[in-house]
Amino acid sequence: MSSSIRSDKGSTPSLAELIVSVKKTLPMVSDATGRLSLSQLKSFLGPAFKGLILQTSRGADSTTMKTAHDVHYDWTYERENTTMSKLYNAALSSQWNAIDLDWSCEVDPLSISRPIIPDAFCPGIVLPQWALLSDKEKAKHRQALLSWMLSQILHGEQGALYGACQVIQAVPWMDGKLLGSTQVLDEGRHVEVFHRYLNEKLGRKYEINENLYVLSEFLVNDSRWDVKFLGMQIMIEGFGLGAFTMIQNIVDEPLLKNILKLIIQDEARHVHYGVLALQKFYENELSEKELREREDLAFEISLLLQRRFLAHEIYDEYWGNHLSLKQWDKFVGESQLMRIFRKSMFRLVIPHLKKLGLLSPRIQPRYRQAGLLDFQEGKAVYEMSQQELLGPVAC
Ligand SMILES: [Fe+2]
Ligand SMILES: [Fe+2]
Repeated sequence: MSSSIRSDKGSTPSLAELIVSVKKTLPMVSDATGRLSLSQLKSFLGPAFKGLILQTSRGADSTTMKTAHDVHYDWTYERENTTMSKLYNAALSSQWNAIDLDWSCEVDPLSISRPIIPDAFCPGIVLPQWALLSDKEKAKHRQALLSWMLSQILHGEQGALYGACQVIQAVPWMDGKLLGSTQVLDEGRHVEVFHRYLNEKLGRKYEINENLYVLSEFLVNDSRWDVKFLGMQIMIEGFGLGAFTMIQNIVDEPLLKNILKLIIQDEARHVHYGVLALQKFYENELSEKELREREDLAFEISLLLQRRFLAHEIYDEYWGNHLSLKQWDKFVGESQLMRIFRKSMFRLVIPHLKKLGLLSPRIQPRYRQAGLLDFQEGKAVYEMSQQELLGPVAC
């Protein structure tokens, strides 16, 4: 398991532990206070306090979160959305079962002769100390990085499972509810497969990254179905899809490649559903003020998700004694690795935000400053060919 500021399982942190945590996370929280409206801040601060400061999820076996959305019954059962209906049928005929995969294959995550992922993807490679590591130590870093990435994906999949359940209840269209029911099955299978792979093949699992935790709790708490949808279906799913395509290209292991290929097809459908559902709703149902509020939220979520890829858990475990967290963020943030991460993830998120009208001239300077605006010209996932979606991302 990753190192943590929590020394005892699920216990209240000491004052010293809290101070460390506040020092680490305060800049991010205070940045957000300058950007968000009071009501947005209120809904973000609860999860942020629990996730970033108290680190509620650390060392805990489970977490209970509150939810407050409306459940929408439809007594007409009318099916009016032909595109969603087509996606529903495609989802039904694309189901697969994890037990049909070849789980008998040998996977050695510590292999020196056949590295499971290239060294170039380990964040520590940008540091001068990397060259001093033995082959065995480098293999451990590769195992740690892949386990860390897949663990975050696993936790995101658990969130997607609950998000899909909530959204089925809340959306007003029967076609959306039926399509969502196939997504629940998909997400359940994704949780099963990633957990099994981590457990049986990599032998390591990391706890949820604090930024992902904040976002997960915020989305569960929020009563607005479209905000859940935006956060989960467009942002977390889009990032997940980017991570899957990137890992699928770099990993040297057939079982994981195969798993990711299957999951990418499922996720592309989920993102398409998200865009279909929100496009009409944002165009016709929301006021300009409400739309700009969603736009601000999407930007904050982008920052939270981007911070997740700074791999602070890897820093805590391997590099905390060598350099400060600030130095780490600078090194890693400017590395070639982060450029590839960023491009892989944001190319599958930003074009969808544009289609939803959440990239107005008002917000563009913030995306530009974060180095993310260039992705707005990209294609939506459902406009891409297989090759464009699955092929390597050039930087
Ligand atoms: Fe999924
Ligand atoms: Fe999904």
